[in-house]
Amino acid sequence: MIQDAMSDGFREERSTGPEPEPEATRRGAGTTESSRASRGWWDRNADEYQAEHGAFLGDDRFVWGPEGLDEQDAALLGPAVRLAGRTVLEIGAGAAQCSRWLAAQGARPVALDLSHRQLLHARRIGAGFPLVQADAGALPFADGSFDLACSAYGGVPFVADSARVMREVHRVLRRGGRWVFSVTHPVRWAFPDEPGPEGLTAVSSYFDRTPYVEQDEAGRAVYVEHHRTLGDRVREIAAAGFRLVDLVEPEWPQWNDQEWGGWSPLRGALLPGTAIFVCDRD
Ligand SMILES: C[S@@+](CC[C@H](N)C(=O)[O-])C[C@H]1O[C@@H](n2cnc3c(N)ncnc32)[C@H](O)[C@@H]1O
Repeated sequence: MIQDAMSDGFREERSTGPEPEPEATRRGAGTTESSRASRGWWDRNADEYQAEHGAFLGDDRFVWGPEGLDEQDAALLGPAVRLAGRTVLEIGAGAAQCSRWLAAQGARPVALDLSHRQLLHARRIGAGFPLVQADAGALPFADGSFDLACSAYGGVPFVADSARVMREVHRVLRRGGRWVFSVTHPVRWAFPDEPGPEGLTAVSSYFDRTPYVEQDEAGRAVYVEHHRTLGDRVREIAAAGFRLVDLVEPEWPQWNDQEWGGWSPLRGALLPGTAIFVCDRD
């Protein structure tokens, strides 16, 4: 649990400095390799991620993705006035910006992330709620512990077995609960991850589920992302016992002139960049 792991403090854990450029490829990557790679990558890159995107995310906003869709407006977890007193698990919370917004509505969030360094940022900004270091595929909570669960690009895109995450979230939710998560829109996997015009031409098969892997000189994965088609996601959600009630594809808003990796106003005007799944646990 993070309370123990973090006792040595934010300043004492330093990034190890620049690494040799990894090789990008498409190849298989299982649960253990993916999890190990994610933990290492996010620990090494949490500082840069928060420096680059922290202002856009806001310390206590709940933003679903690079388009800037805000839970305050979207109310995908239900009307904000009904969040008070509800227990909420945030998965892949990073610096827990979403949990901070939930706490401000009177909810009782628990922010979970695989990366110690990300959670140190959560503590640096301030978290009056539990921070838990754990893997999305093995949630350290009893059955029926939460009213709601959410994840803004946290965990789900990075795990080899996302069906298992769906089952785990279903297990820890109470009846009547809701699970909302965002991922890179699956159609983006057919296109180069580039914000400019080169990112507008399909170059690979949407149906190719081979993971995207960056590996070091020894062939060890240092970064992994997993692809599911839209149909795969729907099947995993249904197989876990959820009822899919909405699939939100946020349109790129006029006000947003920011690029975020391969997400840009140019591509956002033509292609969906984020898919948000709203799932009820009956
Ligand atoms: C793109 S960041 C999103 C963070 C935050 N939700 C936000 O919107 O800024 C992805 C987060 O997922 C976490 N993550 C990756 N794999 C995970 C896993 N298997 N279990 C839990 N968290 C994971 C990373 O450590 C990282 O903090």
